[in-house]
Amino acid sequence: MTTPALNTVSDTFALTTPLYYVNGRPHIGSAYTTMAADALARFYRLRGRSVLSITGTDEHGQKIERTAQSRNIAPQLHCDEMVGEFNRLWEKLNIQYDRFSRTTTPRHHLIVKEFFQRVWDKGDIYLGEQQGWYCVACEEFKEERDLTEEKCCTTHPNQKAEWRDESNYFFRLSSYQERLEELYSAHPEMIQPESRRNEVLSFMKQGLQDFSISRVNLAWGFPFPTDPDHTIYVWFDALLGYVTALLDPDDEPTLDNALKRWWPIDLHIIGKDISRFHALYWPAMLMSAGLEVTQKLFIHGFLTKDGLKMGKSTGNALDAFELTDRYQSDAVRYYFLKEVEFGRDGDFNETRFVNVLNADLANDLGNLLNRTLRMAHKYCEGKVPAVAIPDSDALRSRGEALEGQVVNAYKNVAFHEACGAVLGLAQAGNKYLDERAPWTKYKEGKQEIVEEILYAVLESVRLAAYWLSPITPTLSGAIYKQLGYDVSFSNLKEEAAITLNNHGQWGILSAGQIMEKPQPVFQKLELA
Ligand code: MSP
Repeated sequence: MTTPALNTVSDTFALTTPLYYVNGRPHIGSAYTTMAADALARFYRLRGRSVLSITGTDEHGQKIERTAQSRNIAPQLHCDEMVGEFNRLWEKLNIQYDRFSRTTTPRHHLIVKEFFQRVWDKGDIYLGEQQGWYCVACEEFKEERDLTEEKCCTTHPNQKAEWRDESNYFFRLSSYQERLEELYSAHPEMIQPESRRNEVLSFMKQGLQDFSISRVNLAWGFPFPTDPDHTIYVWFDALLGYVTALLDPDDEPTLDNALKRWWPIDLHIIGKDISRFHALYWPAMLMSAGLEVTQKLFIHGFLTKDGLKMGKSTGNALDAFELTDRYQSDAVRYYFLKEVEFGRDGDFNETRFVNVLNADLANDLGNLLNRTLRMAHKYCEGKVPAVAIPDSDALRSRGEALEGQVVNAYKNVAFHEACGAVLGLAQAGNKYLDERAPWTKYKEGKQEIVEEILYAVLESVRLAAYWLSPITPTLSGAIYKQLGYDVSFSNLKEEAAITLNNHGQWGILSAGQIMEKPQPVFQKLELA
């Protein structure tokens, strides 16, 4: 394998969310990764990159088969219904993906068969005996030491693992130990953040064991190509969903076609429960098939309730549909991306949710625009003043520094830092306005100074809206509209991103531009 050329800037950027299990409707945990991926996709579009944003569903396996059985309907029908729910939530949350990869499609089946053949020809698959505890909720064999006395894994404390003793086909993961060690020691930046990387590395140090890639007594999966008594293990099939996603809609489903433009994928965003699959199993499978590995893996934490991972299997998840209906998409996106440091766990609290949104978006940012626009209408006929702001102006210096800070933050997938930097500018704008008191200057007849102050603040609000737009596209669009632009951040196509691509800099608001009458851009939230 050639070692991937990391961190080289190409014009394409492909990123993925995990492919979600469809054992229930999507909840806030599934939405979390997808909001993050959408924000990053929007950021890279603003930077002028061609972006392919991939999400989708993982539809095979025992967990889904049982869920469909419990509903007394055919598994495919169950999956189709759930996919509708995922799409509905993504629309509500203003998520714009380019590909929705479903693992039950015939196209995916062909990709899996071709990939399987490569690994088979390499001699990396053999028949063996599998004994052990299987957690159906994780779709994963567990080590005895990782289970509680009741034989539950820590992620699913209310679901017992099941004892299995069967013939399975195995993938020779152990043969890739050395290459994986070399890969991560040469490129530690491939797994972020560092704390999660260390977890993966310490697991790897214990010695990688071959894992089974087939199941017996399970109908709901692709048939195992070389043995009709087995089906392919859900994870082997699911990871390849990332590859299938790369096909253009009218491409013939072959590996060559899938890999031609977007490979290797730039970034997988995943939760910490599935890091072994992505950091160890997946790259080994790719090495076996002679393919490059994904450039970067970002592993985030869990949204918890009372300290326990919210989830479909545990049944304690926050209803993302309800939350979004009640507070709207920008609020939900902003809260989770700003308030939970990406990589760590975070507990949800509705009072805090309302307080943060009101303080940051309604007051610091929304109100700043509102009061400044009101003055612009009173003192400058609602037009952007024609003034030059001196280099030494404190707010200008802050505004000029913002691009570097925010770009760095987004590149490091540190949404809380990006929001913090933007908010810092809005707070500085409020302080600047209070200290420089343009209303007094106006009374003193100092029109030029009034105009300078108003321009500096309006431009700061514009910059803040621009850099927050990956996270709050609706709000940013509303701010831009009030400032007199005709831009929708919600439907940002690549062309629009290109025309906007210098908007991250200071000094873009143009003199004489007619602005709208002020209206609240972010309505204050009330606790339900
Ligand atoms: N189907 C597999 C992924 C296959 S990828 C080829 C799977 N699906 S899942 O629906 O169970 O989880 C998908 C993602 O959602 C995981 O990254 C998981 O960490 C994330 N989350 C599910 N519940 C979550 C929280 N409560 N909090 C944060 N993320 C959570 O695993």
